[in-house]
Amino acid sequence: MHRDEFHVPGPGPYALAHSVGCLPTRTAAAIQQHYLQPWQLQGGDAWPAWLSSVDEFRKSLAVLFGGEAAAFCPQANLSSGLAKLLPALPRRPGRTVLLAAEDSFPSMAFVLQQARDTGYETRLIPRAQDPASIGTWSGALTPEVAAALVPHVHSNTGVVAPVADIAALCRERDIYSILDVAQSAGILPVSVVDFAADVLLGSCVKWLCGGPGAGFMWIRPSLLSRLTPTDVGWSFHIYNTGAVTAAFPLRATRAHLDDAKVVGDRREAGIVGTSSAQVLEGHVRVDVGKVRQDTVTVTIPAGAVRVPVDQPLGDLAIVLLEAESPDSFFQWGFMLSVFHEAANSEPYVLEPLGDRMLHSSAALRDAFEHQLATDPVFAGSAERRRSWLLRQTPYADALCRVYPIVREEEETENIGA
Ligand SMILES: Cc1ncc(COP(=O)(O)O)c(C=O)c1O
Repeated sequence: MHRDEFHVPGPGPYALAHSVGCLPTRTAAAIQQHYLQPWQLQGGDAWPAWLSSVDEFRKSLAVLFGGEAAAFCPQANLSSGLAKLLPALPRRPGRTVLLAAEDSFPSMAFVLQQARDTGYETRLIPRAQDPASIGTWSGALTPEVAAALVPHVHSNTGVVAPVADIAALCRERDIYSILDVAQSAGILPVSVVDFAADVLLGSCVKWLCGGPGAGFMWIRPSLLSRLTPTDVGWSFHIYNTGAVTAAFPLRATRAHLDDAKVVGDRREAGIVGTSSAQVLEGHVRVDVGKVRQDTVTVTIPAGAVRVPVDQPLGDLAIVLLEAESPDSFFQWGFMLSVFHEAANSEPYVLEPLGDRMLHSSAALRDAFEHQLATDPVFAGSAERRRSWLLRQTPYADALCRVYPIVREEEETENIGA
């Protein structure tokens, strides 16, 4: 942006953007239009316009710093964001220390000190140790550390810390990394994706010329659903459902229900035909058969729900949600869509395709013949053979018979997801 787009106090040049950025000339009109005018003209009906401004702010943050808008939460300033975050972090036995550099911004250090009321002790890395050296952080990130506050740019020295490396080290050691980008947002590249930290705290008061009050906190989506905040507000009813607000990758165990079938179905396993199925208390029962499991990184979509089992009704959640539980929703026939094969194809399409595939690949032919020789059900069923061939093509439905509820693996593996 050009100098003419700012009110520059005095004759200039203005060299205090690290403290407060200059006021953009467009700001007064924008405040008038988006804040005062809706209020003036619509009174209480101004809320939709005001709330959409908050959404626009979050979207702009996602454009600037990457990630998804839903993972950014507006804050009055950095220290108030930190004060909300610390008591909400998951507590882990033996992890009692909050670590920061001695040269951290005073308001942030004050918040760390106050966290002693929630059982944390603050440890400061002495000023004499270089906060830009990964060795300094490596020595300080000991097993008692629960979380580390890392300023990207130190306010009084201008030192730039290698935040992505420090966040990686924290991840390796199961320590929550909280980055302070107050001094770097708008002047250095800042990316929640590249930094891969747990939390990013910033404001728009400096190089972004957004004025005081426009602070923000980004939280890694997979951490968000584990937080237990006490300082909550209007949107808590959404958060409190455990609903995931932004997609995120998660290390999880999936169940493959290869053998499952509707009880009493005279046709083959997995081909749903309720006409011949047994009905019990108004439901068709499902026999889960042998369950195969794998542990993979899956994408948890926005709108998914996380159900913690360390809650009073945790056992009930397990009984209802684990496919292998005899009283699960799955075995009571509530999830028959598991059997749906989106890419299922007609025999007249699959058979010539299968013939061509078997002729053109010796390896596939060998595998097919091995299956014929060793699996009598396969050998006797054209349906099974077609289904097997379909699975060798790119058209197969990768999610058919994959149970849609996954089990989250230990936090250790997810801390950086
Ligand atoms: C590195 C750093 N962190 C945080 C802050 C501001 O903290 P708060 O928003 O809590 O006033 C500043 C302000 O200058 C800063 O330089």
